[in-house]
Amino acid sequence: MRRGSILQLVVIGVIAGAIAGAVAYFVPWLPKPATLEAERIDWVFWFVTIICIVIFALVSAVIVYSVIKFRVPPDDDTDGPPIHGHTGLEILWTAVPALLVTAIGVFSAIVLAKNDNLGKHPLHIDVIAQQFAWSFKYPESNGLASTELRLPVHRSVQLRIRALDVLHSFWVPQFGQKQDAVPGQVTTLHITPTRVGRFPIKCTELCGLGHAFMRATAIVMPAAEYDAWASKQGQAQSTGGADAGKAIFDSNGCAACHTLKGPERPAKVGPDLDRLPAFAKGPGQTLDAFIRESIVKPDAYVEKGYPPNVMPKTFGSSLSSKQLDALVKYLVASTRGGGA
Ligand code: CUA
Repeated sequence: MRRGSILQLVVIGVIAGAIAGAVAYFVPWLPKPATLEAERIDWVFWFVTIICIVIFALVSAVIVYSVIKFRVPPDDDTDGPPIHGHTGLEILWTAVPALLVTAIGVFSAIVLAKNDNLGKHPLHIDVIAQQFAWSFKYPESNGLASTELRLPVHRSVQLRIRALDVLHSFWVPQFGQKQDAVPGQVTTLHITPTRVGRFPIKCTELCGLGHAFMRATAIVMPAAEYDAWASKQGQAQSTGGADAGKAIFDSNGCAACHTLKGPERPAKVGPDLDRLPAFAKGPGQTLDAFIRESIVKPDAYVEKGYPPNVMPKTFGSSLSSKQLDALVKYLVASTRGGGA
């Protein structure tokens, strides 16, 4: 092969590689990672992408060069020369891909093993998915609960994900991984946040009418702030003070389906709680007894115009009797003023 030809091949290859490289690098395909695990996954992506760009450049160079150089003149009707293969080339194009695929496999296995390693003292947080809200429990902070996921930065965290009704899926794009929430199973996701900030949590499994609204926020905080938040909130929710009922209402995601005191984004899946006193007349119960029954046995009486079998039947067991009392008290007090 002449020197000029090799130079042409190299120039075409470099141009093709530069274009592909620019598309990979300058287009923001993925969000900036916010966990150690997502950073490692990004490294695997880049490893694979660079291999692909090099191969793309090589193939493009040969194709473009051949199309130009070996173009048939308009009046040439002869057959092309017979070719009998090339043992050396065949060995090369078998061995090189085999090596590359093995390298990708080994690199991925190392990243998977590292990402699954919880370390010595992981923080456990329970993630509960139900139509159509997320809630979070912090067993290491006295059963503290919240509707946004609070995380201390630079700490290894294991999320234990449960679904109370149907399939859901937990996804924070910046955390780099999705994990299904499966009724009857506990699935896990390991993350080590690296950046303080707020990140969106999305349900990424079609789970019913309110799927598109099944969102929450993950808040990554400095460790000291996280500890202060956990101890303050934990106390407020466990002592059953005046705000306990509201804290339980907020932290169990009730507002995802119910309107109470006309919030700015009215929820429409479940009955409007501002009208509870009127609804209680349906089964002819006292307001207190009606609210209590509706929380523990939601399908005992369903107000006309609202779907049955949507409200989770789990609150009777997931709330303590003290918490249930506080919640009922809060709802009675909130609705009596503006109700029937
Ligand atoms: Cu839950 Cu979609």
